[in-house]
Amino acid sequence: MMSKKPILTVHEVSMFFGGLKAVDDLSFTINEKEIIGLIGPNGAGKTTVFNCVTQFYKKYTGTITYVNRDNKVINLKDYDVTKIASLGIARTFQNIELIPDLSILDNVLIGAFNQFETKVIAHIFRTPKMRRQEKALTEKAENILKRLHIHHLKDMYVAGQPYGILKKVELARALISDPRLIILDEPAAGLNDKETDELEALVYQIRDEFNTTVLLIEHDMGLVMNLCDRVVAINFGKFLAYDTPQNIQKNPLVQEAYLGKDE
Ligand SMILES: Nc1ncnc2c1ncn2[C@@H]1O[C@H](COP(=O)(O)OP(=O)(O)OP(=O)(O)O)[C@@H](O)[C@H]1O
Ligand SMILES: [Mg+2]
Repeated sequence: MMSKKPILTVHEVSMFFGGLKAVDDLSFTINEKEIIGLIGPNGAGKTTVFNCVTQFYKKYTGTITYVNRDNKVINLKDYDVTKIASLGIARTFQNIELIPDLSILDNVLIGAFNQFETKVIAHIFRTPKMRRQEKALTEKAENILKRLHIHHLKDMYVAGQPYGILKKVELARALISDPRLIILDEPAAGLNDKETDELEALVYQIRDEFNTTVLLIEHDMGLVMNLCDRVVAINFGKFLAYDTPQNIQKNPLVQEAYLGKDE
């Protein structure tokens, strides 16, 4: 049986860009270890929701609460965007955000910066403690790359790698911060059928082996139907439905939202 312990609650959240209400009084809760889809037509406000959750946007109204590693319910607005990863929330981006001139391994290690405990002074003098931390983190990064089957590419530059590899590097970078909640913005976008199948297996693997909850935005409805325990559907920033993939497919409000859209 799946546990029913909430991990993230979006409560009456609204976000404006000038006069445009990109997210409109949206509420939903996701439970630990669930795989939840967030769907809606282009411009529905999905990425904006992610940017509110990760505190990249601070000017939303409403509350977003999260159950932290100590089982405490915290209001994410109390935390700066740079602190979110250390709370256990990691993300990937709709437009891949990696550093092209660094190796794959170094790009993954960047996701771990928040784990360094030593002070700046220790970095200057490279204290033994720091060297130990570096070594441990490098081993951890290599282990994640192995589990994502891209370890053999670790010393290659990110620049010039195919899309499917870049997506995995982003996943690896998210995983190195020991996330409890991983949020993926269109993980299958740009992937071919084989890569999409592989991604599906990978998301299950991430949930089970890395013990995470997964919230994902996706336009590939086949993938959403296969992967997700439940799906939140929105349109014009507004809540439409929160249901099983099967029921979401049949929901008249959801069907209407997609009518006349080519996706
Ligand atoms: N930084 C911004 N400034 C102004 N308007 C924005 C900004 N970001 C998004 N918007 C607008 O807010 C609305 C929601 O955008 P958002 O990117 O959240 O949609 P989405 O559901 O992720 O769409 P897509 O499926 O195309 O990625 C759109 O009308 C968009 O044009
Ligand atoms: Mg988007």
